[in-house]
Amino acid sequence: MLIRNAWYVASWAVDVAEKPLARTFLNEPVVLFRDSAGRIAAIEDRCCHRGFPLAHGRVVGDAIQCGYHGLEFDRAGRCVRIPHQDMVPANAVIRAYPVVEQDDLVWIWMGDPSLADPAKIPAFPWHKEWPYKAATYHIECSYELIIDNLLDLTHLAFVHSTTVGGAPDDQVVAEMKVTPHERGVHFIRWLRNSVPPPTYVRGVGFKGRVDRWQDFDFIAPSAVLQFTGALDVGKGAYEEGKRDGGFALRIFHGMTPETDHTSHYFWSALHGYRKDEPAVTAEVFREIETAFRQDEFVLKEQYARVRAFPDRNLIDVRADAARVQGRRVLDRLQREEAAAHGLAIASG
Ligand code: FES
Ligand SMILES: [Fe+2]
Repeated sequence: MLIRNAWYVASWAVDVAEKPLARTFLNEPVVLFRDSAGRIAAIEDRCCHRGFPLAHGRVVGDAIQCGYHGLEFDRAGRCVRIPHQDMVPANAVIRAYPVVEQDDLVWIWMGDPSLADPAKIPAFPWHKEWPYKAATYHIECSYELIIDNLLDLTHLAFVHSTTVGGAPDDQVVAEMKVTPHERGVHFIRWLRNSVPPPTYVRGVGFKGRVDRWQDFDFIAPSAVLQFTGALDVGKGAYEEGKRDGGFALRIFHGMTPETDHTSHYFWSALHGYRKDEPAVTAEVFREIETAFRQDEFVLKEQYARVRAFPDRNLIDVRADAARVQGRRVLDRLQREEAAAHGLAIASG
């Protein structure tokens, strides 16, 4: 069961323009557009005249005009004009979804609109402070698997040994502190006195070993905020919490179910060093992109197998501590929502 009463990333703000953008969220077709005042609207992508997708139409003033017989709908989903007649019937209405533009992202609420509280949107002000490049992937797996992948970093040494991975032995001795919280789970992972991965060396020219941190905050159900970096050993990264003067990378991860079995994955890579060098922004993006294409391959293959054999065993190991906590929060949110609707949900 998908969690509806939650904020999910619908798009990067720059990707929503006057030209309508069609996207499916939680199995529902939605059309996003900007009205004449630049405000983003999200309404059902289905005209209530004869069902044609509105995304094939065009924006006219503050409304979107259906490309079949010209009915126009405003941002609240109300039909405001029908060609060749003066009266618009009261039932000429389609669904409208709360949307908020924040931190260069567009967030959408697919559940009960009366519960949509913008204060609950995960904040990521770094998009305004560090240079970055962003991407939107379509991934053939459930959104939970993308979250799982981010919450168990022991995969780095095996999936990403050529990019952000680093030596397998360093990964094994990583020190991990997992802190569950009301909205998800936070963890910090330390690879002290370790060999910096090639990406880090290329970025800031490390000469020797580093203290490297991986700080992840999962805000259920849809966002993981990552801050990773490294300083030369002995520069106080671990002992004194220092973060400046070495490698510093933030990644925003937004996971949005498209359907039960496919996902949108919105991510951006921001760098906190050599901030005025666009070539670094491009290089960091390329590195991360290579790594995430490696993840994508794993996720797609994994999901095909898991889906084909849903009743076979999957086990938890010690490295799953944060992942297990993350799933607990998702399960709780699902149960709360099911209870609110008086539904029984199958476990698993
Ligand atoms: S289907 Fe949209 S106006 Fe007829
Ligand atoms: Fe990965």
